[in-house]
Amino acid sequence: MTEAASRPAIVLVQGDITDQSVDAIVNAANSSLLGGGGVDGAIHRRGGPEILADCRRLRASHYGKGLPTGHAVATTAGRLPARWVIHTVGPVWRPDEDRSPLLASCYRESLRVAGELGARTVAFPAISTGICGWPLDDGARVAVRAVREAAAGSVEEIRFVLFDEVAYRAFEEAVAG
Ligand code: APR
Repeated sequence: MTEAASRPAIVLVQGDITDQSVDAIVNAANSSLLGGGGVDGAIHRRGGPEILADCRRLRASHYGKGLPTGHAVATTAGRLPARWVIHTVGPVWRPDEDRSPLLASCYRESLRVAGELGARTVAFPAISTGICGWPLDDGARVAVRAVREAAAGSVEEIRFVLFDEVAYRAFEEAVAG
């Protein structure tokens, strides 16, 4: 599904983000930048050790305390069919606190980094909707609103890559709404 607009096109696909041929793949990382499960595990497994080596360099330089929630930083994409991986740290969902500005920040900051790199196509997973426990429908609404409002620089296509049909439908509704 493609949205026609003067802004970057929003494209939805169902699948595995590590299969996507794009300029930049966004990783739902954690602040250690040293890997994990879900999308993070898949990206490091398929991308190979070059990504982890870059992450270790970041930890040894600018991000000694780790990457804060809502921020984003780029590394090589290693063996993935992309030029860069942009790592961002999604907030853990809390029923008693609205943390959606932090989730929106992940999308906005990732697009800012992508724009600085000159990326034209960027693939996003549904950040925070797995291990971080964010309800899918709300996560989709926050994601779509954030990318529509963000400055995207060179980015022409924003591709949400949804792992299953439920996630795909949630994003389809968010785009339509
Ligand atoms: N491609 C696309 N989407 C995927 C893939 C994949 N290969 N694997 C999982 N997903 C989906 C999940 O179904 C979920 O909807 O991505 C969404 C985000 O799930 P997680 O990867 O669990 O990310 P998140 O909820 O942001 O949790 C991040 O998990 O692995 C750790 O290090 C990571 O601590 C961090 C936390």
